[in-house]
Amino acid sequence: MSKREIVTYPNQILRKQAVAISKPDKSIKALINEMIQIMEEAHGLGLAANQIGVLYKIIVYNEGSGPKYILNPKITNFEGEQIGPEGCLSFPGLQGEVKRAERVEIKGNDLKGKSIKIKAEGLLARIFQHETDHLNGTLFIDRADPNTLQYITQDQDEPVEDPVGV
Ligand code: CO
Repeated sequence: MSKREIVTYPNQILRKQAVAISKPDKSIKALINEMIQIMEEAHGLGLAANQIGVLYKIIVYNEGSGPKYILNPKITNFEGEQIGPEGCLSFPGLQGEVKRAERVEIKGNDLKGKSIKIKAEGLLARIFQHETDHLNGTLFIDRADPNTLQYITQDQDEPVEDPVGV
């Protein structure tokens, strides 16, 4: 019964700052479930609330170990460097090389208001950086090497899942 859809660029809600959630209630839980459903339908690895037109600080992600969420996420430490291809569900078909930190520490809250702290590296660290950027109105095209941005054409007989669509 998903009614919201993924907002695509240049919709200006993608450029807005999301606001923190002080008291998560049932509506936030429902929103998280909806975001996870939309992410899975789109075969994405992550989704920020801006991307479905909601300006709350919520991200959902699934780097392969099941869907999870973080409320009010904030990256509190960046280490190292990784350069690799990145895409975004709000830019269908577009990819580019983006330099990110190799390791991050992210803090936030769960639905009970408890603090969450996660240390991530590699792909998960990339997802966290991409999604927290969304909540601040920053998009991967702002960070991508402009010489590498290109639309990937898909063979219609053989649909290709975007490996880094976030
Ligand atoms: Co994105």
